[in-house]
This record gives sequence, C-alpha cells and structure tokens, in this order.
Amino acid sequence: MSKTSISNLVSRLSLLIILSFFFTTVRADNAPDPGLVSKGEVLFKENCKTCHAVHTQEVGPALKDVTKRRDVKWLSAWIRNSSQVIASGDKYANDLYNKFGKSPMTSFSSFKDDEIKAVLAYIDAESVKGPEKKEEKVVIGEPPVEKVDTTSTIILILVVVVLILVLTTLIVFLSVIKRFLKDKEATLTEADKELVNQKFDLVAVVKSKMFITIVSLLFVTIAVRACWLGALSIGVEQNYEPVQPIPFSHKQHAGEMKINCNYCHTGAYKSKQANIPSVNICMNCHTHVKEGPRFGAEGIAKVVKAYETGAPIKWVRVHNLPDLAYFNHSQHTTVAGIECQKCHGPIEEMEVVRQHSPLTMGWCINCHRETAVNSKDNAYYDKLLKVHADSKKKGEMKAEDIGAIDCSKCHY
Ligand code: HEC
Ligand code: HEC
Ligand code: HEC
Ligand code: HEC
Ligand code: HEC
Ligand code: HEC
Repeated sequence: MSKTSISNLVSRLSLLIILSFFFTTVRADNAPDPGLVSKGEVLFKENCKTCHAVHTQEVGPALKDVTKRRDVKWLSAWIRNSSQVIASGDKYANDLYNKFGKSPMTSFSSFKDDEIKAVLAYIDAESVKGPEKKEEKVVIGEPPVEKVDTTSTIILILVVVVLILVLTTLIVFLSVIKRFLKDKEATLTEADKELVNQKFDLVAVVKSKMFITIVSLLFVTIAVRACWLGALSIGVEQNYEPVQPIPFSHKQHAGEMKINCNYCHTGAYKSKQANIPSVNICMNCHTHVKEGPRFGAEGIAKVVKAYETGAPIKWVRVHNLPDLAYFNHSQHTTVAGIECQKCHGPIEEMEVVRQHSPLTMGWCINCHRETAVNSKDNAYYDKLLKVHADSKKKGEMKAEDIGAIDCSKCHY
C-alpha cells in the first residue's frame, strides 16, 4: 500500500469520525431532557389539561407542533397573558381568538421562563409520540365485567375426561378377558367357572356394606368442609367492590391528579372516622371542570345535579366493621404512623374502591402482634419503653405489649 493512500484513508476516517460525532451531538441537543419533560407534564396536567389536549381540539386548539407554528417569544407572551397579545393587534392571535368564539384563555402571568420551557418541551415530546389510543368509554352504571378464572374449570374437565377413558378401557379389557376364558371353560375348575359366568349385579353392589360406608364417609367430609369454610367467611367481605352511584375514580383524583387523601377524607388523621366528602368538596373543582375524559359531561353532570338539588349522594359503603368492634383511624394513622395503603391497599390505582383487607379480628390482632409502636417524639411512650426494656420480653415494643390485644380495647 502506498504512502498516499494510507494518509488518504486516515484523513477520510477522521472526517467520518468528526462527522458522526457532530451528528450525535446534534441529536443529543435535540433530544428532549426527560427531567424537563416530566416537569412540563405535571404543569400541563395541572394548568392546561382542562382546556387542551395535544392531538385533539378541546376547549382550546390541539397543541401539536405549536412550537413550529409560533416562536418561543410569542408563546411566552401568549401563555402569560393572551388578551394582551390579542389587544396588540397580532393577526394570528386575533384570528385564533375569533375562531374559538372569542373565549379567552386563562392568563398564567406567574409562569417563569423555565416553567414555560418545560410545558413546551412536554408538548413537543407528545407531538412526536403521536396520539395515544383512546381508552374505551365505559358506560355509566354498568357493573364491571367479572373475569372468571377458567383454568381450574378446564383442568377439572380434563380430569373427568381422562377418568372416563380409563374406565371404558378397563371395561373393554374385562370383557375381552371374560370371552377368552369362556372359550377355555372346559379346562377351568368349578370355582373359576362360577367367577367367569358371574353376572354384574348393580343392586348387590349398591346394597353392599362397603359401598354404603364409602358413600356416607364422602358425604360427611364434603358437608363438614363446606360448613367450616362457610363459618370462616361469615361477615368477611374481602374484595367487595360495589358499583357507586357516580363513577368517581380514585385512580383519576388521588392517582393521576395526586389530590391528598386528607383533602377529601378530612377525619382520617384526626378522628375515629375518616369521613366521606360532601358534594361541596367536589364542587371546589367541579364548578370549573365540567367534562372528564371517560364520561364526557355525563359523569360530572351527576355531581352538579346532586349539588343543585341538595340531595346527598348515596355512596355505597365499602368497609364496614360490625358494631361490636371499635376502630379508630387517628390512632393508627397519626399515633402509629401507618399509611392508608397498608390497610386499604393501592387505593390511588383503583377505578372503583375495593375492600383490600379481610377486616377480621385475626387480621387486626396479627398486625398488633407484628407491628412495633411508633414511639418517636412521643414522651408518653418513653416510660413504657423503659418498662419494656427491663421486662423479660426481647425485641421491640409491639402494639401487643401496650395492651392492643386485650378484648376490651376493641370490644365495648
Ligand atoms: C380555560 C381554558 C384554557 C386553559 C386553562 C388554557 N388554554 Fe390555551 N387556549 C385556550 C383557547 C380557547 C385558545 C384559543 C384562543 C382563544 O380563544 O383565546 C387557546 C390557545 C392556546 C395556544 C395557541 C394555540 C395555537 O394553535 O396557536 C397555546 C400555545 C396555548 N393555548 C397554550 C396553553 C397552555 C400552555 C396552557 C396551560 C399553561 C393553556 N393554554 C391553558 C383555552 C385555554
Ligand atoms: C377527591 C376526593 C377524594 C380523594 C382525594 C380521596 N378519596 Fe377516598 N373516597 C372519596 C369518595 C367520594 C368516596 C366514596 C365513593 C367510593 O367509594 O368511591 C371515597 C371512598 C374511599 C374509601 C372507601 C370508603 C368505604 O365506603 O368504605 C376508602 C378506603 C378511601 N376512599 C380511601 C382513600 C385514600 C387512601 C385516599 C388517598 C390515596 C383517598 N381515598 C383519596 C373521595 C376521595
Ligand atoms: C381538586 C379538584 C377536584 C376535586 C376536589 C374533585 N374533582 Fe372530580 N375531577 C377533577 C378534574 C380536573 C377532572 C377531569 C380529569 C381529567 O380531565 O383528566 C375530574 C373528573 C371527574 C369525573 C369525570 C370522570 C371522567 O373521566 O369522565 C367525575 C365523575 C368526578 N370528577 C367526580 C368527582 C366527585 C364525586 C368529587 C367529590 C367527591 C370530585 N370529583 C372532586 C377535579 C376534581
Ligand atoms: C390500620 C388500618 C387502617 C388504616 C391505616 C387506615 N384505615 Fe381507613 N378503615 C379501616 C377500617 C378497619 C375501616 C372500617 C371502619 C368501620 O367500619 O368502622 C376503615 C374505613 C375507612 C373509610 C370509610 C369511612 C369511615 O370512616 O369508616 C374511609 C373513607 C377510610 N377508611 C379512609 C382511610 C384513609 C384516607 C386512610 C389514610 C389516611 C386510612 N383510611 C387508613 C382501616 C384502616
Ligand atoms: C397495619 C397494622 C394494624 C392493623 C391492621 C390494625 N392495627 Fe390497631 N394498632 C396498630 C398499632 C401499631 C397500634 C399502636 C398504636 C399506638 O401506639 O397507640 C394499634 C392500636 C390499636 C388500638 C389501641 C390500643 C391501645 O392500647 O390503646 C386499638 C383499639 C386498635 N388498634 C384496634 C384495631 C382494630 C379493631 C383493628 C382491625 C379492624 C386494627 N386495630 C387493625 C396497628 C394495626
Ligand atoms: C385488635 C382488636 C380486637 C381484639 C383485641 C379482640 N377483638 Fe374480637 N373482634 C374484633 C373485630 C374487628 C371483630 C369483627 C370481625 C368480623 O366481623 O369478622 C371481632 C369479632 C369478635 C366476636 C364476634 C365474632 C363474630 O363472628 O361475630 C367475638 C365473640 C370476639 N370478637 C371476641 C373477642 C374476645 C373474647 C377477645 C379477647 C380475647 C377479642 N375479641 C379481642 C377485633 C378484636
């Protein structure tokens, strides 16, 4: 290889490397910063989502590729105060305003530059992603379709089929042997002959002692088992998930919108009852928000109607201890520092509330045996802790050790 061709090759290679470096950095510059996008997502959902979507027109226009239509300066001015932009005589702004029936957009004058940048980054990212598949609209009032576990049924059917096959082969096999022996009847002894010529007598079989004992044993076992299971599940309503009169969704409100549980369940940290919110609390938002993504205007109309007629919403109660048991929320949430989800499960993921825990006496007592008391910043417990440390009992001071499994603590 000549010298020139080597240097030629080297220079070409370096050019290639520089070029590829250039293109990757350019790409990296264009790639949205995930932190910025997720910040923008939060801001968008909190402030803009009520009127805008990226791919569809809602109250306001679809915001897809808006940063290509308008520059950042215009957009910042618009988002901070759209009426000012309209008043300045900007043609684009006036056309848009007229097209949308002169409904003014809310002003976000407190938005800082980086917040506007974040929202726009989110809109850009969503524009590239393409429209999400629309979730199917759920019909209000229709109970959710129950999923039946079919695997166990299929296994059962298979077992029965196999058993029947085995039985028929046995019968066929038996008759073949019988016929074979009949041919050789002459060579058989008296006793064997009797056996071969024996007719199958069903009545005799049913009347036999053996048969009766087996059947009655079977019967007793099944009955006892059913009674036992029944007794264990009396009053246990685990997984109870009633259909509610209004399709209120915790997934939407507590999950996606991150509204604090305490905002609606005002007693959960300070009293015995957690409380179900009155319709006034819903109206804090629903005087403004009139449409939801799943039911359109229909779902929220029910909330507004309840507010206007003053008739309380008849929520179906999900969790319900019998009157003989005493349970106090603040004792568990505030004093013991237990999270709602520990007892109620992932409520913020539930479309419809479901009873997550069995709520049986055994469930309460198990937890009292396992859970250490929360003695942090609680002077009342300092003395008890010392007594506990001096006692023969090893390990942390459990709820059990402060008397939480005495019958009288939970039963009046
Ligand atoms: C109360 C409803 C409402 C809210 C909330 C709202 N907008 Fe708007 N927006 C509109 C309407 C309506 C228009 C159409 C122009 C008009 O009528 O003023 C619009 C227009 C726009 C435009 C111009 C679109 C285009 O095609 O050029 C942008 C950009 C925009 N909005 C961004 C936002 C952002 C970002 C937020 C949240 C920070 C937001 N909007 C919140 C109602 C709203
Ligand atoms: C926007 C108001 C709101 C927020 C926020 C909210 N809830 Fe609820 N919650 C309700 C309403 C209304 C009901 C009654 C209807 C139902 O069961 O869906 C309810 C019912 C419940 C129930 C069942 C009550 C029963 O009947 O036994 C539990 C448990 C519950 N919420 C826990 C939570 C937890 C935990 C959080 C926080 C992660 C939370 N909620 C956040 C409004 C709210
Ligand atoms: C902090 C504000 C806020 C409170 C309080 C609130 N909501 Fe909502 N709710 C919203 C918003 C915002 C939406 C629309 C969600 C969306 O567009 O993703 C909504 C949607 C809904 C929907 C429509 C669901 C759909 O997808 O169509 C219903 C029904 C509803 N809320 C009922 C209630 C009830 C009942 C209460 C009171 C227990 C309540 N909301 C309290 C903000 C609130
Ligand atoms: C130690 C378990 C436990 C924890 C922790 C807990 N709950 Fe409960 N919750 C229960 C039980 C048990 C009931 C049924 C009470 C009854 O029927 O008297 C209940 C009932 C409820 C109800 C129905 C209305 C009522 O007051 O009876 C709501 C709403 C509720 N809880 C919300 C919450 C919220 C919100 C939190 C967190 C701040 C929370 N719970 C934490 C066990 C718990
Ligand atoms: C997730 C664990 C947990 C579950 C489930 C639970 N508890 Fe508790 N409970 C505690 C803890 C921890 C304490 C100790 C709180 C304290 O420091 O006073 C406690 C305290 C109590 C006390 C006060 C005891 C005393 O000595 O003053 C009562 C009453 C009580 N629980 C009733 C119940 C009932 C009724 C249930 C079932 C419906 C239940 N708890 C379910 C953890 C639990
Ligand atoms: C930590 C709280 C707690 C303690 C301590 C406790 N219980 Fe219970 N008990 C309950 C709860 C909750 C129920 C309701 C459970 C249900 O409906 O399945 C219950 C139910 C009962 C029932 C009625 C059973 C039924 O099927 O209706 C009896 C009887 C009972 N308890 C006796 C006792 C006795 C005796 C003690 C003391 C050895 C005791 N309990 C201690 C929480 C407790």
